[in-house]
Amino acid sequence: MDDAFEPHAASQTDRFLQDVLTGLAQTQKTLPCQYFYDEAGSNLFEQITELPEYYPTRTEIGILTRHATAMADALGPRALLVEYGAGASTKTRILLDALVDPAGYVPIDVSEDFLLQTADALKLEYPDLAVHPIAADFMVELGLPDHIDGTPVGFFPGSTIGNLSDGEIDQFLRAARRLLGPQSKFIIGVDLRKSPDILMPAYDDAQGVTAAFNLNLLRRINHDLGANFDLDAFQHEAIWNDEDSRIEMHLRSLKSQTVTIGTQSIAFAQDETIHTENSRKFDLTRLVDVIAPTGWTLRENWRDPRDFFAVLLLDAA
Ligand code: AVJ
Repeated sequence: MDDAFEPHAASQTDRFLQDVLTGLAQTQKTLPCQYFYDEAGSNLFEQITELPEYYPTRTEIGILTRHATAMADALGPRALLVEYGAGASTKTRILLDALVDPAGYVPIDVSEDFLLQTADALKLEYPDLAVHPIAADFMVELGLPDHIDGTPVGFFPGSTIGNLSDGEIDQFLRAARRLLGPQSKFIIGVDLRKSPDILMPAYDDAQGVTAAFNLNLLRRINHDLGANFDLDAFQHEAIWNDEDSRIEMHLRSLKSQTVTIGTQSIAFAQDETIHTENSRKFDLTRLVDVIAPTGWTLRENWRDPRDFFAVLLLDAA
């Protein structure tokens, strides 16, 4: 049973290696952004959320704080909160504190150590709450623990949905609808389209924390897969792609070089980049068109006064 939730370390490393080699074999080299979040990466991300330039976290926390009672009213009593990509669960506490008699909390995260730490902390803070962490990639088909009752409420804050393509959003929301069931609801945080003057510094901060976060992916590949990336020979880059309405993060090779990963050699031309992340900035009307066919209906949305960020409430249609 446990194996289904926590695949063996060996097979996880195999998959990581396979994903890395596949991504680096593309014409535009890519690496999947889910691998940012090893322990060092998760800690760097927590630092990002506190940067003055990085507005999403504090904006979303503001919306949740201000509208927590309205959200709790809309969700009703005995909610079983199922959080996708749980991280440090700061936002979860805001919701849990407002909810009437919450039934349980199921955090799902790929970063297992971080997940279990957070789950333990929450168990202490909310002794009456059934906490059941699941260490997994939330894009795979999952099952809910059957010993916890309550009305399933999906929670996907932080605009992590912005990492996904339209096709992946479709797949994700359909899978969530199947997992959570016909009585469920879903709270999703989405970052909205805005001026590149605000977006760019948020992804290329003055202290270089985002650069360290991006480069940590290469450090992780060196450490976990025995590769020999020279971290000084790659540079963090953030690009605003207006047509696709997204910030792209890249790692630019500063020289012509060859990197070894296991038995493979990978050549980089000078100035060639590895595309490491898309962070989409949504137009609500367009997003609703993507959500509509997946079995969810937009019931409410709460925004900050600057319209930087929106928290959506979806209902299983
Ligand atoms: C966690 C995916 C929401 O896209 O803003 C932060 C990750 N990348 N800085 C984002 C991130 C660079 C973050 N998400």
